[in-house]
Amino acid sequence: MEEKKLQELLNNMTEKEKLVQVFQLAACCYEEDFTPNFTGPMRDIQVDDTLKKTAGSVIGLLEPEEMQRLQKLCASGPNHIPALFMLDIIHGFKTIFPIPLGLACSWDTELMQKTCRVAAREARASGIHATFAPMADLVRDSRWGRVMESTGEDPWLNARFAEAAVKGFQGEGVGEKDSLMSCVKHFAGYGAAEAGREYNTVDMSRGVLRDMYLEAYHAAVEAGCRLVMTAFNTIERVPATCNKWLLTTLLREEWGFDGAVITDWNSMNELLAHSVAGDGKEAAGKALKAGVDIDMMSGHYLFDLGKKMEEEPELRPLLDQAVMRILRLKNEMGLFEDPGRGTDPKLARQLYLCEEHRALALEAAHKSMVLLKNERVLPLKKECRVTLAGSMAGAENLLGGWSFTGDAQDCITIPEGLKQIGANVAAPRHGWIDMDEVCALARQSDVTLLIGGEPVEETAEANSKTNLRLKEEDRKLLYSLKEQGSRVVLVVLSGRAFVLSDVEPYCDAILQAWFPGTEAGRAIADILYGIAQPEGKLTISFPYTEGQLPLYYNGFRTGRPQKEEALTGGEINEVDEIYVSHYIDCQNKPLYPFGYGLSYTDYAYRDLKLSSEYMYPGGTIQASVKVKNTGERVGREIVQLYLCDPVGSVVRPVKELKAYRLLELQPGEEQECIFTISEEDLKFWDNEEKKVLEPGRFIVMAGPDSERLLKSEFVYKLKKER
Ligand code: NOJ
Repeated sequence: MEEKKLQELLNNMTEKEKLVQVFQLAACCYEEDFTPNFTGPMRDIQVDDTLKKTAGSVIGLLEPEEMQRLQKLCASGPNHIPALFMLDIIHGFKTIFPIPLGLACSWDTELMQKTCRVAAREARASGIHATFAPMADLVRDSRWGRVMESTGEDPWLNARFAEAAVKGFQGEGVGEKDSLMSCVKHFAGYGAAEAGREYNTVDMSRGVLRDMYLEAYHAAVEAGCRLVMTAFNTIERVPATCNKWLLTTLLREEWGFDGAVITDWNSMNELLAHSVAGDGKEAAGKALKAGVDIDMMSGHYLFDLGKKMEEEPELRPLLDQAVMRILRLKNEMGLFEDPGRGTDPKLARQLYLCEEHRALALEAAHKSMVLLKNERVLPLKKECRVTLAGSMAGAENLLGGWSFTGDAQDCITIPEGLKQIGANVAAPRHGWIDMDEVCALARQSDVTLLIGGEPVEETAEANSKTNLRLKEEDRKLLYSLKEQGSRVVLVVLSGRAFVLSDVEPYCDAILQAWFPGTEAGRAIADILYGIAQPEGKLTISFPYTEGQLPLYYNGFRTGRPQKEEALTGGEINEVDEIYVSHYIDCQNKPLYPFGYGLSYTDYAYRDLKLSSEYMYPGGTIQASVKVKNTGERVGREIVQLYLCDPVGSVVRPVKELKAYRLLELQPGEEQECIFTISEEDLKFWDNEEKKVLEPGRFIVMAGPDSERLLKSEFVYKLKKER
């Protein structure tokens, strides 16, 4: 439909119709015997036929035939405006992929894109138009339950994953029949909730916000995502949902976003609890002025905005603007011509969990796993006698949080996976953690597989916690097994970085498996037996203890940095080793750093070289490093490049990831890995909100993780000297 026609349509709409367009209805409102059991103003909602037919958008529909029916119903309203169906499709629709934090450990953005494409195909054929993903929140604190939904602690890497996800969901464009609109969330800074506590305050300088937190949302916007969701938190003491600087000055004016902004669930109503609005009218007015187009489930646009506009008629054009943005999205998807475009229940059912999608889920699960320790125990040999134990050994749901669209019954459990590959496994009959039986079995076995971590219900939204350790029963079992001399491989299933320092010395090997999705059990078995190789590397630091949190590799320098040698423990007796930034009872460093991960082969790094000692405006520098596969298996190494700006007008991070390569190497093969460093890589946001490049020294670091790094340096000069 032409823009002119859309404008005519808008002109024909009554105010009531407009208010329904900017409101998002929950799927349950369409149920026959619906009675509202919402909190807040939504409890008074009257769901009549007109509301059902004129709904602007609906959240939570799942069944293809139902969606098809409702698409027709909505398009039969007075102005024949189709509705948008939105849903949280976070890491797969029916075929479930590893949780995003796991997927990120593959460092494989193409893989992320492919998984999102598959999710889009399955979901769009079912009738859904938009997904509330990706979550581009940078997270430095695993106490926060939603860390599972993020891709980790690095701004640059998060940005690469965010753009890959948008490209995957939106495919060739949202006009295509197999694409979803992508909604990046939670704008902005939600991952920095204080103390890792869900829905808590966020406060930081604008420089940090820009340098660290905004990059991934911006990348999603640049990649063309059609929706942005506001965060529950405050930014500079103003809740994101009514933050005009965030939603208009930055998002629209600076970044040029032309899609629609939607609130998070009920967050407009939370402006009252946040104490920035006295009533629903004020909340609706503030959100509209700030730039919110769609109200998810607070009801204030539907119930209160009309009254607010009577007091402030100047709000009316803003409502029109919001409605127009929504109509344009519908138009982009071709829904005016065909409200059922792309919906094909038969095709959907053919796509769900089809062979091709499951194969991708298996590949993704393999690549998501990170081998944290291996004292020559893995890979296991087929004939190896194995005892399977631990509180999570029999877990049926290994799909992970935010996978309610999938079915745990479709998930391969660990016992099933081990069986599929013909492993020689003994399992206790009196429970997975029955100490006596497990220990007795272990005495007859070569290795015990201890499967621990956290149940899926302890991850995702509203699951912040302060204890990030294995369950006590698993720890006790581990200690007893070790005491009797059994060899133990610990497999950790979790939605966050765990504290493993108290169990690490007792394990012969540790595999971080996250929640691997539909093919979970098979993928874990493949990795343990070397049918597939662990190649993932952490995108979040694993703390030594919870007390270190937040913990991240790219922190600022302090005035009193700790000496390198003090990091490894030992006597602290010099004055300059006491009055430094450290703990008296714990190391500063994580147990496992960002970028870390082992494989079944080894690599040696040498010869980090720069193409020049100087870089000038408009120029670049090539950094090359030689990487050799010194082991006996073919491997894929994630070669990482970091930069450090040692002197700046503001304090600069100790290091920042700027590039990486996935290098495939045959046993004994050495390759030179070449990176191009450009001026863009040297820039940062100063306190005047300008992205600046300051001349001076830059340190280049390359290596297998954020700690074991070769170093070299160059100088950025504004002019060539004669
Ligand atoms: C609340 C969550 O914070 C958000 O991520 C999600 O998309 C919405 N609910 C809708 O389910």
